[in-house]
Amino acid sequence: MTQELTIAVSKGRILKETMPLLQHAGIELIDDPKESRKLILDTNHDDVKVVVLRATDVPTFVEYGVADIGIAGKDVLMEFGGESIYEPVDLKISTCRLMTAGKPGANERKGRLKVATKFVNVAQKFFAEQGKQVEIIKLYGSMELAPIVDLADLIVDIVDTGNTLKANGLVPLDHIADISSRLIINKASMKMKHNRIQDIIEAVQAAVQ
Ligand code: ATP
Ligand code: PRP
Repeated sequence: MTQELTIAVSKGRILKETMPLLQHAGIELIDDPKESRKLILDTNHDDVKVVVLRATDVPTFVEYGVADIGIAGKDVLMEFGGESIYEPVDLKISTCRLMTAGKPGANERKGRLKVATKFVNVAQKFFAEQGKQVEIIKLYGSMELAPIVDLADLIVDIVDTGNTLKANGLVPLDHIADISSRLIINKASMKMKHNRIQDIIEAVQAAVQ
C-alpha cells in the first residue's frame, strides 16, 4: 500500500533551489508553480503532492502534519521555535546571515534601543542574551527603511551580499546566526511513513553532497 506524502516548500528562491534536490530524490513537479494557480501541485508520483507556501507558513503546515515534509530557512525555523519538528538535513541552499544592522555606530548608542524586525522572537532572545533592553517593532518587510526614517535604531534582518544595507547607507553590526535551508519532517509522519521518508532524506542528503 502506498502512503500519500505532502511536501511544503517556501515559494521564491528556496523553491528554485529545492527543485534539483527533489529531482535527485526522484520527485519532479508536473505543474509549473509559476504558471499554475493550483495550491496543491502534482508531481510525477500520484501519491506525492507539493504545496508552495509563504516561507513563514512552512513550519506550521509541518507541525500540524498537513505536510509530512517541509523545506524552510533556518531563520524562519529559529523564529518559529519549539522542538516539535525534526530537522534532519542542512540543504546548504539559500545561504545568508541573520544580523543586526543600522547606521554606523548605531549599536553604541546608550539607552533603550528600538529594533525593527520581522524576527521578533529571535531578536528578543538575542538582545536578552546580550543583557540589552530593547523595544522591538514588528515589521513585515523593507526593514532597511526603519533606521533611515528613524523608526528604529537597529534592524534584525537577512544579509547576503550586503548590497541592500549599503544601498541604504547602513552597515552590518552583530552576527546572530549563519542561515541555510533545512529539510524538516513532522514527527508523527516520521514514525508512520518511516521507510518512505527515510528514502527521501537519504536521496536529498546525497544530492546535497
Ligand atoms: P515573504 O515574502 O513570504 O515574507 P521572504 O521574502 O523572506 O518571504 P524569500 O526572500 O524567498 O522570502 O526568502 C526565503 C528564505 O530565503 C529566507 O527565509 C532565508 O532563509 C533565505 N533568504 C532570504 N533572503 C536571502 C538572500 N538575500 N540571500 C540568500 N538567502 C536569502
Ligand atoms: C532579503 C533581505 C534583505 C536582502 C539581503 O530580501 O530581507 O533585504 O535580501 O540581501 P543582500 O545582502 O544580498 O542585499 P529579499 O531580496 O528576499 O526581498 P524581500 O524579503 O524584501 O522580499
